[in-house]
Amino acid sequence: MKALTLKILFVCVCSVFLKQLNFDKWDEFKRRFGRKFHLNTELKHMQNFFQKLEKIDVHNKEYALGKTKYLSDINKLTDLDQDQLKRKTGFIPSEPSRVKRGAGTKRYAYGPNRPIFRIYFADQHITLPESVDWTKSGWSEPVSDQLDCGSCWAFSSATMISAQLWIKKRKNVPISPQDFIDCSTYLSTKGCDGGSPANALEFTILNGSSTSDVYQYRNQQESCRVFVREQNPLYKITSFYKLDENHDALKQAVALLGPVSVSINSEDGFQSYKSGIYDGIDAGRLECSINDINHAVTVVGYGTDKTTNTDYWLIKNTWGSDWGESGYVRMLRTKDNLCGIYKYMFVPVIE
Ligand SMILES: *[C@@H]1O[C@H](CO)[C@@H](O)[C@H](O)[C@H]1NC(C)=O
Repeated sequence: MKALTLKILFVCVCSVFLKQLNFDKWDEFKRRFGRKFHLNTELKHMQNFFQKLEKIDVHNKEYALGKTKYLSDINKLTDLDQDQLKRKTGFIPSEPSRVKRGAGTKRYAYGPNRPIFRIYFADQHITLPESVDWTKSGWSEPVSDQLDCGSCWAFSSATMISAQLWIKKRKNVPISPQDFIDCSTYLSTKGCDGGSPANALEFTILNGSSTSDVYQYRNQQESCRVFVREQNPLYKITSFYKLDENHDALKQAVALLGPVSVSINSEDGFQSYKSGIYDGIDAGRLECSINDINHAVTVVGYGTDKTTNTDYWLIKNTWGSDWGESGYVRMLRTKDNLCGIYKYMFVPVIE
């Protein structure tokens, strides 16, 4: 009876654009993703759901016509409102704090002599492999889910440091994103309200990072567990690179150094990505922009899709393995700064 009232109410509210809304789809969505709502919040979520559903349908028709390179689908983000979606991202643009530009060089320096980060440039004389995939290197880190905390920056940092420890030390170490969330605030990170990998890397240089088996993820910011940090191994990095803002620098860094943190503008199309090569097109138009970079993810490889002959970046996201291609997205790889991907790229250095 309650459900019926709600449906009638919803149809009235939406009567301006009254269409054949398929309520079975909403019921199925709620069942599939275990959603339970109060009457007053359900309406809003149902509205979000039907709006996205329509975009997804339009988008997939465009896909069938060959006008975009990826398929989209309903997933656990489909009914979320803006506040909830913010908690699925969490990148805040920030340069590393307390750095000075070294006189006459491209180096930045931390303290009198110690470089905290340097700019990484592509060298046109180096021949790189056609494809790279660090997920097949023996480094094992399962796909994470940041849940309802804007901690993408912490996860992306943890991922690339973990990969670097595998590459340099042949150790599979799961670095703790929660450690960054709770303990790196003195470097101006904001926990579940966001942060930058640059600051997380700086934290790992200065303080060291603990591992996620002892410092577990809590899906919220808590006070720094100093005791856990003191009683368990901490892993440090020596410095890091900020990549020159172009395709070639990223390709070379992924091939020669390891997984790289990049940040993009995540919008509706990206959120609804299911498979294929994400090209920033949503429902017929280029929707992501270089001006609203909000989500840090990790490039773990690159290659060329054989069937469509399209170059892509292989990207590890932190929305669980039930999103995209088992938690990953292949993103269009061109010289263009698609969705702002080449703007904030970082990779740790362990010497
Ligand atoms: C990190 O290092 C700074 C500088 O040495 C220190 O002030 C701070 O207390 C440390 N924080 C943690 C969580 O270890």
